[in-house]
Amino acid sequence: MEITLALIKPHVLRNTYAMQQIRALISQNFTILDQKEVCITKELSERFYAEHKGKYFYHRLTSFMNSGPSYALILQSEACIQKWRSLLGPTKVFRAVYADPNCIRALYGLSDTRNACHGSDSEESALREISILFPEFDAAVGSRQA
Ligand code: CMP
Repeated sequence: MEITLALIKPHVLRNTYAMQQIRALISQNFTILDQKEVCITKELSERFYAEHKGKYFYHRLTSFMNSGPSYALILQSEACIQKWRSLLGPTKVFRAVYADPNCIRALYGLSDTRNACHGSDSEESALREISILFPEFDAAVGSRQA
């Protein structure tokens, strides 16, 4: 079984209807190993998105993620990483709308930065991102350390 990090961005967490729909989709498709509302500080945001440092959207992205609470989940299923990313759709919202008008980013994304949710892109990224947002989570055991 694979695990991934799903991150629901601040503007979606404020949208009760969107949260209901996304929660339903998640519970139909995955086991939730852990979940929490998380205030992503600027420092945390810069660690989380370190691979994008220097890109033109980096400051906008890290500032936005620091603009209000997000909701983080550790999801588990077969082929979890790809499954969550295909429910999300393409990173860029205009592409998501054309690719699948019912995908999460097409429905709830507002811009490339405010693209609704994040999903890890590999097993290595999933472990790195989980360790940043859930430092107490033990991936070997699949739950928080006692
Ligand atoms: P996310 O899944 O959070 O992971 C990296 C984020 O960088 C991505 O979603 C987008 O929000 C953002 N991003 C990636 N490419 C661009 C881009 N070309 N313009 C603006 N933001 C981008």
